[in-house]
Amino acid sequence: MCGIVGYYGKENAAPFLLDGLKKLEYRGYDSAGIALLRGGKINLYRCRGRVRELGSARREKGQLGIGHTRWATHGAPSEANAHPHVYGKFAIVHNGIIENQFELKGELLARGDTFSSETDSEVIAHLLAYYYEGDLLAAMQKTAGRLKGSYAVAAMCEEIPDALVCARSKSPLVVGEGNGGVYVASDLSAIAARGVALYALGDGEFALLNGKGVTVYDRDLTVIPKEPLEYDPEAEAPDKRGYRHYMRKEMAEIPAVIGKSCIDFARDPAYEELTRVLGRTQRIHIVACGTAYHSGLCAKFAIESLCRIPVEVCVASEYRYRNPIVPPDTLALAVTQSGETADTLAAAELAKQAGAYLVAVTNVPYSSITRIADTVLFTGAGREIAVAATKSFNAQLELLYCIASALAESKGGQSYFAELHRLIETVAAAEKSCEEVRGWIPYFLGARSVFFLGRGADYAAALEGSLKLKEITYLPSEGYAAGELKHGTLALVDEGTPVVALLTDPALAEKTMNAVHEVYARGANVFLITSLPEYVSRKEVSSAVLLPACRAEFSPVLSVLPLQALAYYLSIARGNNPDKPRNLAKSVTVE
Ligand code: F6R
Repeated sequence: MCGIVGYYGKENAAPFLLDGLKKLEYRGYDSAGIALLRGGKINLYRCRGRVRELGSARREKGQLGIGHTRWATHGAPSEANAHPHVYGKFAIVHNGIIENQFELKGELLARGDTFSSETDSEVIAHLLAYYYEGDLLAAMQKTAGRLKGSYAVAAMCEEIPDALVCARSKSPLVVGEGNGGVYVASDLSAIAARGVALYALGDGEFALLNGKGVTVYDRDLTVIPKEPLEYDPEAEAPDKRGYRHYMRKEMAEIPAVIGKSCIDFARDPAYEELTRVLGRTQRIHIVACGTAYHSGLCAKFAIESLCRIPVEVCVASEYRYRNPIVPPDTLALAVTQSGETADTLAAAELAKQAGAYLVAVTNVPYSSITRIADTVLFTGAGREIAVAATKSFNAQLELLYCIASALAESKGGQSYFAELHRLIETVAAAEKSCEEVRGWIPYFLGARSVFFLGRGADYAAALEGSLKLKEITYLPSEGYAAGELKHGTLALVDEGTPVVALLTDPALAEKTMNAVHEVYARGANVFLITSLPEYVSRKEVSSAVLLPACRAEFSPVLSVLPLQALAYYLSIARGNNPDKPRNLAKSVTVE
């Protein structure tokens, strides 16, 4: 949620700030701004909308600057609420939520301050002005001491032409030095192309960035040493490689990505330790949000069916406040692409404190979840730029199925690794058939709503298909358990309603077909995603995508492919940019 950048160095800051913000737009893009220090004065350039609206600021002079791309939480998207926020001699950019903003605002108003935005962030600039006595770092330490909630902050002061100060609590922040400059950003993608030394700031830490480089401090402002991050500048630099959108490029990468997840798992240095833990595991709690929650649901079917170990899957924002029961020998799996989702981090921490062994399944090295987990397993999907998750979902599935296989083995059962490895080719074959859904688009274009039906693992995949469609087409849709439809929701199905039915488990196929008969009888257009050829030419079916066969427990890794493609092509047909859906951010670092 929100991306921040900062620069001081021998070049003009504006080009780095604007290019960096564009790379961080996956974190939010409803308003943007930069502040540049020139001749002892802060100059502000802000806009509602995307970073590209600030294009004319690129030529502005100033070697010290900060920038922000916003995903609105407190205060509507508007120029006044866009960061940087300036108060007196101070400009700040902030990612996170200041939970005690009203208390602080009250105090500052009583002192005679006036506010120019509706944001929670503006209090930070006011507090800096209040605590500043010639030392910006000390003022930041005092300010941070007053803040409750989450923050990654970068600040500058008109009196100091050659330094930036940063603070971090719960929201991610990376600082860097090299090539005659110092840098700060919400994540390394904004800086990576510079090939400089980068350091991740930890919770409660501060950084001073000036002509001498980067100095990192702990809470008491004692200097602490930092190891530079290992990263590949090229892998971190986003590139569509000829595809029109990142989303389509990332979908095309799925076969390679799941292959990597499977192979990396078997070679993971954590494998031995994990096997020991799995051997004593009695139950599993999976905590996650959004798409990652759906991969948890898919994993539940596989683990319970193959290992006979109970799995509870809980939306992280619910788990964290419900005082969950965590008996001994519980394994907690926190599934998160970004590794920064605030609710998932809190739920994972709670499970760990309650005694669970915490395994993180994440795609992002050095992310916050990696610092709290007992064991970290990387999905290895590579950077995912499109806001709607695709390849990371398939990679999570493959990795979770690998865990299921290792768990089955640790309980004296069979291994499924060879089968999982073969899935790489099966997925590559299935990926090709996804293009067939383009023929379905005319039936969905005029629809008021869409249904996705399935049973068992197909139901979990149906939920993901529905989420993807909602996220990037803005069409209302429901993912439904096929047997549950008749308990009310069937009332919403009428002439021409598109219904996507998933049918991959021979044991459940006829049962799901009951729901297909019911919607067909009410005039629905039924689109089938199946690995069972005998259902393709049933009279109820308008069109079908036939997938290669695979074990029912693992089928979502295949069946989700046409669902992702359907959402993608329909999004374009409805005139949207599938890479940048409205009101959605890639990394949700606020509650
Ligand atoms: C879906 C999507 C979101 C995320 C959710 C969790 O396309 O992008 O629903 O899945 O915000 O994010 P992570 O996996 O980063 O914890």
